[in-house]
Amino acid sequence: MVCTVQISSSNGNANPNKGSAAALAAEPIPEEFSPVEICGPLSPDVTADEKLRSGNGEKEIVLGKNVRSSCLAITEPEADDEVTGEREAYMASVLAKYRRSLIERTKHHLGYPYNLDFDYGALAQLQMFSINNLGDPFIESNYGVHSRQFEVGVLDWFARLWELEKHEYWGYITNCGTEGNLHGVLVGREVLPDGVLYASRETHYSIFKAARMYRMELVKVDTLISGEIDCADFKQRLLQNKDKPAIVNVNIGTTVKGAIDDLDMVIQTLEETGFTQDRFYIHCDGALFGLMMPFVKRAPKVTFKKPIGSVSVSGHKFVGCPMPCGVQITRIEHINALSRNVEYLASVDATIMGSRNGHAPIFLWYTLNRKGYRGFQKEVQKCLRNAHYLKGCLQSAGISAMLNELSSTVVFERPQDETFVRKWQLACQGNIAHVVVMPNVTIEKLDYFVNELIENRPGWFPDGNVVTPCISNDIGEGNCACLNHNRV
Ligand SMILES: Cc1ncc(COP(=O)(O)O)c(C=O)c1O
Repeated sequence: MVCTVQISSSNGNANPNKGSAAALAAEPIPEEFSPVEICGPLSPDVTADEKLRSGNGEKEIVLGKNVRSSCLAITEPEADDEVTGEREAYMASVLAKYRRSLIERTKHHLGYPYNLDFDYGALAQLQMFSINNLGDPFIESNYGVHSRQFEVGVLDWFARLWELEKHEYWGYITNCGTEGNLHGVLVGREVLPDGVLYASRETHYSIFKAARMYRMELVKVDTLISGEIDCADFKQRLLQNKDKPAIVNVNIGTTVKGAIDDLDMVIQTLEETGFTQDRFYIHCDGALFGLMMPFVKRAPKVTFKKPIGSVSVSGHKFVGCPMPCGVQITRIEHINALSRNVEYLASVDATIMGSRNGHAPIFLWYTLNRKGYRGFQKEVQKCLRNAHYLKGCLQSAGISAMLNELSSTVVFERPQDETFVRKWQLACQGNIAHVVVMPNVTIEKLDYFVNELIENRPGWFPDGNVVTPCISNDIGEGNCACLNHNRV
């Protein structure tokens, strides 16, 4: 099959044949592509137990029912479609409209940690190939349309970043950060089969999913107001389970607050409670900041020179790959316990998934080669600077805001209008929302966002009288701008 998918830069500037991105974005977006209500009205047979409230409860998710918004139906071709060309024309117009909606949605994206600033036009020539890296990256399978040479190059780059020699590591390009976490926890469990899994309460749900999938004993550890793991609580919980080895997830950037767990303190806590290195396994979830922290001087260093077992990172986040992917690196001595020969592949199975996206390693290879360690360092500095700028703007406008020292995730008062939240694609939890400042988030975009927030905010309160809500439980009194705290 020959695919004719065209790649263009996300901001639309690399579209030489059509009108400018700005002109396209200015046209109204057809309804089927506009941000839609996910839920319709609840049907009467849905009980309260079946409802899951999302965020502030404006949106209801109903378990056991698919709630349909809009759908582009697939219909059977007419007998004369090939002659009239009507179907081709229809599909072309659907795709053109969809493309316009993507340009518009990309322009207003702030809440998810995806770097949308890239241009992979040079890779368009490869879209016609079904590239699949099934099996082990280091053991070539019989399927020849693969990109293992790119994959291993990317893995070497990350192993060097995290200070593990070529002959000492094993790893693979995953389908996402979640897969890296599922793999990291699985390796931990294979190394320490009766280990208890420890993870802070603010850990990404994929780690809790791993505990459920592998039926592992799970201990949730409290967090500090910053979102970091609370090592005093960690110590208590370790002492309660001293007889069993510990498998610990360390967050290199939590999802909501972008908090970086103190790896050194975690290791120290394990040692102080009598856990020797053969009785603990640490997986570092660096989905978000795994690639940023190495370039921040004051950050606790993530390195295999410390007693850690694995590190994972998402490839579509800071790196800026246009398709979900990730990188997982572990010590080679751990992987044998997991590996199984698969005769028909002529390779070995040690990954979570079977077929693996062979395009993703090429995109990663391309961008790592273009930017290099120095390029990423510059981008990290820009993101941290812009995040401070955003926090300052919000606080000057009397809006509660928090920014962890090593992070580019700015947490602030949740906007009281779901249309605004959806327009800017903000990630919200309870009373707070966040913006993750990625390389594509410019000062101009932040100004545009803050101005719109300030302009709209009075409309979310009765008679336009703004009463700043207290969110000190979420971000600390020192960051809260409510009447009682008014610290910012
Ligand atoms: C801390 C953390 N870990 C893991 C993940 C999962 O990554 P992915 O979406 O690539 O599966 C996320 C996603 O945002 C995250 O924030």
